[in-house]
Amino acid sequence: MITREWCVERDASDPLGALRDQFILDDSVVYLDGNSLGALSKPARRRILETVDDAWAVGLVRSWNSAGWMDAPLAVGDRLAPLIGAGPGEVLIADTITLLLAKLVGAALELRPGRHVVLTDAANFHSDLYVIDAMAEHSARPIEVRRIDRRELTEHLDEDVALVEFTHVDYRTGEMLDLAGITSAVQGAGALMLWDLAHSAGAVPVDLAAAGADLAVGCTYKYLNAGPGAPAFCFIRAALQGQLVNPLPGWLGHARPFEFERDYVPAEGVRSFQTSSPSIVSIAALEGSLEVFEMTDVEHLRAKSLALTSMFMDLVEERLAQHDLEIVTPRDPARRGSQVSLRVDGAYGLVQALIERGVIGDFRAPDIARFGFTPLTLRFVDVYDAVELMSRVLADGAHREARFERRNPVT
Ligand SMILES: Cc1ncc(COP(=O)(O)O)c(C=O)c1O
Repeated sequence: MITREWCVERDASDPLGALRDQFILDDSVVYLDGNSLGALSKPARRRILETVDDAWAVGLVRSWNSAGWMDAPLAVGDRLAPLIGAGPGEVLIADTITLLLAKLVGAALELRPGRHVVLTDAANFHSDLYVIDAMAEHSARPIEVRRIDRRELTEHLDEDVALVEFTHVDYRTGEMLDLAGITSAVQGAGALMLWDLAHSAGAVPVDLAAAGADLAVGCTYKYLNAGPGAPAFCFIRAALQGQLVNPLPGWLGHARPFEFERDYVPAEGVRSFQTSSPSIVSIAALEGSLEVFEMTDVEHLRAKSLALTSMFMDLVEERLAQHDLEIVTPRDPARRGSQVSLRVDGAYGLVQALIERGVIGDFRAPDIARFGFTPLTLRFVDVYDAVELMSRVLADGAHREARFERRNPVT
């Protein structure tokens, strides 16, 4: 049986334990939502303040040159690259996932002109589905989007398929897909593979180079802790960079933006996928946040993440067995991201009642209480306390209060 004392001891010998001090966190709160909005780290805060107080307030427009702002989307992309197994010059920080998906889907379709089908996961994040549909609709030639059951991918792979887009870790269930195996199957059928790494980057090992991956996108405000609305990133395999054309060109993806030429000439490499001015303050926050990742490595993060999620599932089974809830996240570590999702009647009320008592998770419609486990900040004792509290809330029925029938705009 897992006891609180055992958790305290485990925290004391945790090789990542000291990294929690790099974050600004209220000790009375158990934060299980770093998979939605990551916590603020001290280095991120420092970099934001330096950028605002020195580079912006004092340097003013000169900082585009003197503070390296023009190169930040690529330079910080290079620092993020090791977390996803990318090489130098393969990652650009820009836009949002949805906008980068639009660009990459459009570009990929042009690279497979003889093919007219895009496959995506019927259970994919809704924004991915919307933008793929829209890009197909606005394509110069008829494109058919098929929303498939991802387990049936191989049955759909044929010579008509131009592109497959999947999310690596399912935002709802936390299931992690076989990135290398799927990439190889898709490429074997002559199509391009585009991964959404929203719930992977900074949380689970991703090796895009080893998988020979073509294209990927991800965000920096979740496990990468770059702050609300921080920009996304895209990965374009080096060998594809000269071939892919950004369908939403803008001045900062031009080879010579300050020549103000009338016609668009793409910059070399992944920079051509930049469209507009970069969000410098947010990129500075990301840079600071990456300093914390550079104090450890993804293998240590993964080991702790799996230990936390396993312990949470064990405790849920041990302490909450009498309640009608189901763990929908795979038990198999090879198929598990860094979150655990519970299907439970009254899931929204449960999450709200927990938040009111200091344990912050989130709710994903229609019936999922979702808990993210950020190995940089979480202690084993936090997991223990969260399940204890959940047990009390479920036993009292506090989650069934009528006021929880009305949902907040953000759940
Ligand atoms: C899997 C996934 N894809 C895409 C998005 C949308 O990201 P953005 O707001 O950067 O477009 C999210 C947001 O949470 C997500 O979880």
